Amino acid sequence: MAMTDFWHPFADMAQVEERGALSLVRGEGAYVFDDAGRRYLDATASLWYCNVGWGRDEIAEAAARQMRELPAYSTFGDLTNPPAEALATRVAHMAPVAGSKVFLTSGGSDSIDTATKMARRYWQLRDEPQRAILIRREKAYHGMHTAGTSLAGIPANATGHGELIEDVTEVPWNDAEALRAAIERDDPERVAAFFCEPVIGAGGVFPPPPGYLQAAREVCREMDVLFIADEVITGFGRTGDWFASNRFGLDPDIITCAKGITSGYLPMGAVIASPAVAEPFFTPGAGLWRHGYTYSGHASVAAAALANLDIMEREDLGGRALKLESALFDALAPLADHEMVEEVRGGVGVLAAVNLRQDLVAEDASLPAKVGGACREAGMLIRPLVGGALAVSPPLVIDDEGIAEMAEAFRAGLDAVAAR
Ligand SMILES: Cc1ncc(COP(=O)(O)O)c(C=O)c1O
Repeated sequence: MAMTDFWHPFADMAQVEERGALSLVRGEGAYVFDDAGRRYLDATASLWYCNVGWGRDEIAEAAARQMRELPAYSTFGDLTNPPAEALATRVAHMAPVAGSKVFLTSGGSDSIDTATKMARRYWQLRDEPQRAILIRREKAYHGMHTAGTSLAGIPANATGHGELIEDVTEVPWNDAEALRAAIERDDPERVAAFFCEPVIGAGGVFPPPPGYLQAAREVCREMDVLFIADEVITGFGRTGDWFASNRFGLDPDIITCAKGITSGYLPMGAVIASPAVAEPFFTPGAGLWRHGYTYSGHASVAAAALANLDIMEREDLGGRALKLESALFDALAPLADHEMVEEVRGGVGVLAAVNLRQDLVAEDASLPAKVGGACREAGMLIRPLVGGALAVSPPLVIDDEGIAEMAEAFRAGLDAVAAR
């Protein structure tokens, strides 16, 4: 048994100690290597984030250059630094709503906490303090801070810690009329915001039903409820544009993002507020908004983000993602014939899931982890999710060969477990 002082996130630590851990030491493009030199196809871009792929020296150099000058300094109050300014301007220009303002955070969960407080504070500044209800969707994942845990539509993630944030309502993930009914039931005058992942990620990779996002956006507009697009996964190229909101013609009041903004080379998140949402905060007399993080606008992280966005632009990784989305889905779709598979989902962005048969998962809840383990033995890292889904979201630099390799390793993993 290998004892460890490192308490892993989202882990059964007794099991980690019993079975040991996989130590990854190096990455190159769409591949990572363990401490024994074994190569793995990184079919998930780690946790959906390494959009530009591994081994990008220019990001490391940009961060190192900034660290030698001034690694970081507070941006509270009137303090600022050039990389944070440049990044905010750049991200504001990528956003679907012109004139947006960008609040920088340390990651996706920070962004969700910030958006929650921003939405409620917005209504207070607008003299409607009774608007406090937050609406989440079934299957939703919005990170694991207190707000995100309360907004979890994955029951296993939402329970076990008592009541966290009050005034949260859940709606079906795929029905805009049910959203309208829920707002009417709660009282439209009391609802602050609706949180929406354009493609549901950790809940199992569910692309939006055709027309759903636009219809939900319209319901929010009609009811004067803030529409918050959680683009932590879907932003920065993964769905073929800077944001899925651009692609689907949405004009969210608030966008939360993280991950692809730096491709994970350093941790960062952002909240993009439309001019209408930002306006009451920027109005003379609004006063100090008592919210922010030590590392909001961290100069070295912002420098890394800028270098990352340079790569995305230069290599048109958004355009590449659009081509990859059908290639990925076409390669994985035949796995639906496998005796252990119920369905294959994908087709919007470089995101897909192979869902195991529900009856098999009901019989053995560890089945997805077993298939994940067998795929690892076949040289590929994938991610088991709730409901028996096995998710893939490779770096956007993966090529046709890598995609074919992914489909083969998937089948090898499924076959190995089926044969046991
Ligand atoms: C849609 C969504 N929102 C928020 C988060 C939380 O981000 P982080 O883990 O960086 O805090 C995630 C993380 O996977 C996510 O997928």
